[in-house]
Amino acid sequence: MKIVAIVGSIRKESYNLKLAQYIQNRYQEKIEVEIADIKDLPFYDQDMELNPPATVTAFKTKVKEADAVLWLTPEYNYSIPGVLKNAIDWLSRIDKVMIGKPSWIVGASMGLLGTVRAQQHLRDILFSAGVSSPLLPGNEVYLGLVHEKMDEAGQLTHEPTIQFLDTVVNNFIAWYEKQAK
Ligand code: FNR
Repeated sequence: MKIVAIVGSIRKESYNLKLAQYIQNRYQEKIEVEIADIKDLPFYDQDMELNPPATVTAFKTKVKEADAVLWLTPEYNYSIPGVLKNAIDWLSRIDKVMIGKPSWIVGASMGLLGTVRAQQHLRDILFSAGVSSPLLPGNEVYLGLVHEKMDEAGQLTHEPTIQFLDTVVNNFIAWYEKQAK
């Protein structure tokens, strides 16, 4: 299964990016994860959507060709970061590449709540008409206090979190295969 990971933080030392890389490495025998670059997407502009710049076309093609999308979101002001909403807005228009494409969500933050409010918003957005992405039920991954559970190199060090993630990945694969039938 080919998965495109879309990370809602564009900073170099992002915990969510490190988590994407951790998932990419740890589960490489089971899933192929490619991390999409959303940093160079322009602000969504309806005047550009019929003839978008190459960065937008490449991004949309990557998502279109993937079997599923893994969203990794930080929480900014109780919601998802603007860069992530911007990326979704591009995906939701014209060829609407997200419609019917399975998704799962994880999120990491240094706070206790582990992006719970951002993920609630993200779920609402994924269910909107132009996105309409079937979402892995349950299996909600709120990685709070991430700075205590991940080392500098981006390796998770907190065994219960690792075991939970292992379970969620297996659940996602089983759910995806049921969807694909
Ligand atoms: C935050 N942060 C934050 N954390 C949280 O739990 N709830 C929140 O509402 C916010 N709001 C917020 C706004 C802005 C503008 C910033 C920059 C940060 C903290 C945030 O979760 C933390 O910086 C994460 O480490 C960001 O994710 P990455 O970049 O490490 O992936």
